[in-house]
Amino acid sequence: MSTVTTAHGPKGLEGVVATTSSICYIDGDLGVLAYRGIDIHELAEHSTFEETCYLLWSGRLPSRAELNELRDRLAGERKLDPAIINLLRTTPTHVVPMDVLRTAVSALSFYDAEEKKNDHDTNLHKSIRLTSQIAMIVAAYDRIRKGKPVVEPDRSLSHAANFLLMLNGTPPTPTAERALDIALILHADHELNASTFAARVTAATLSDMHSAVTSAIGCLKGPLHGGANEAVFKILQAIDSSGSDPVEYIKKMLAEKKKVPGFGHRVYHTEDPRATHLRKMSEDLGYSNGQGKWFEMSRAIEEFVKADKKLNANVDFYSASTYHTLGIDVDLFTPVFAVSRISGWTAHVIEQLDDNRLIRPRADYIGPPYPQHWLPLEQR
Ligand SMILES: CC(C)(COP(=O)(O)OP(=O)(O)OC[C@H]1O[C@@H](n2cnc3c(N)ncnc32)[C@H](O)[C@@H]1OP(=O)(O)O)[C@@H](O)C(=O)NCCC(=O)NCCS
Repeated sequence: MSTVTTAHGPKGLEGVVATTSSICYIDGDLGVLAYRGIDIHELAEHSTFEETCYLLWSGRLPSRAELNELRDRLAGERKLDPAIINLLRTTPTHVVPMDVLRTAVSALSFYDAEEKKNDHDTNLHKSIRLTSQIAMIVAAYDRIRKGKPVVEPDRSLSHAANFLLMLNGTPPTPTAERALDIALILHADHELNASTFAARVTAATLSDMHSAVTSAIGCLKGPLHGGANEAVFKILQAIDSSGSDPVEYIKKMLAEKKKVPGFGHRVYHTEDPRATHLRKMSEDLGYSNGQGKWFEMSRAIEEFVKADKKLNANVDFYSASTYHTLGIDVDLFTPVFAVSRISGWTAHVIEQLDDNRLIRPRADYIGPPYPQHWLPLEQR
């Protein structure tokens, strides 16, 4: 094959199959998402985030003993080096939590006893550790920036309950715990989404797990990816505070050729199966907390965008109102996405390294034809 590229790459790598993977199955026409073959609807109904982590990392559901062991290990890893807490304390308070998370996760490697090792088992340890630590960093930074004391983890609690405890200072109600648990399950993995691809590209150079996850966090932040949930809620807040009609507000956005965050998807041509659950959660939690207005606004926008633009709500649309009703600040929405997606990123890094080859595609060159020639300055 010629080493000079002539093929035209699809913009945004649309439709390109970039690797084999046995982690996540998606049928974008039928709206199917499954982890290791198990439909997301079954997992959302019956599983827990911890069990989902086991499934993603090990390829199968755990036995009761295996699940208990993983829970204990996740709880045992609920500790941050004092230097990380100090980093969070010395970060300027104007820095958004997603940027703090990116930098803190990178710094975690300085204090990881297994930093230099990159084998399968070590990366599984790092996956467990990072899953616990990321949740703690998000909660601790939010407390610190608000001038509140950092809450000690409770190792008897589930991952979701401990996160809400460390964030709010009080243990969550069973309803709030289960709602977050389901949201964590739904966000855990999504095949070669941009941040997971970034993690795999980094891992494939034989760099390390912390570098791969740092790449992924930087990627997730963007408003075309995980940052969309924050953008959705800012729109709901703007509609609420200005007393605007939600549909008129969105019509104006579209007339200005703006994209409506929380709609559209590269892979799904039908309803994003995660949105089905989040819509219901947004409705149930909203009404039970006397905050049904966010759901009602969202529903009106969804119906309009679907009818007018034939675009479906994606995972980020109803997660915005759901997280708000759980008492989570808007600039924590994307970090909470990372609190879940760390499970998928790490599963993909492990899979990549189990059968690694450097990921190095080519570009379709469209610059000046070769050869051009260098000219002395006075002749340009
Ligand atoms: C998710 C997303 C990035 C997918 O992008 P993509 O596959 O590259 O699709 P495109 O951006 O090329 O969009 C295709 C067409 O649909 C339109 N479209 C897609 N999403 C839209 C949205 N949210 N609002 C308005 N129009 C949208 C585009 O303007 C484009 O129209 P055109 O062909 O007339 O120019 C895109 O739908 C988007 O930006 N959504 C909003 C951000 C978001 O919610 N991201 C989270 C994804 S889980």
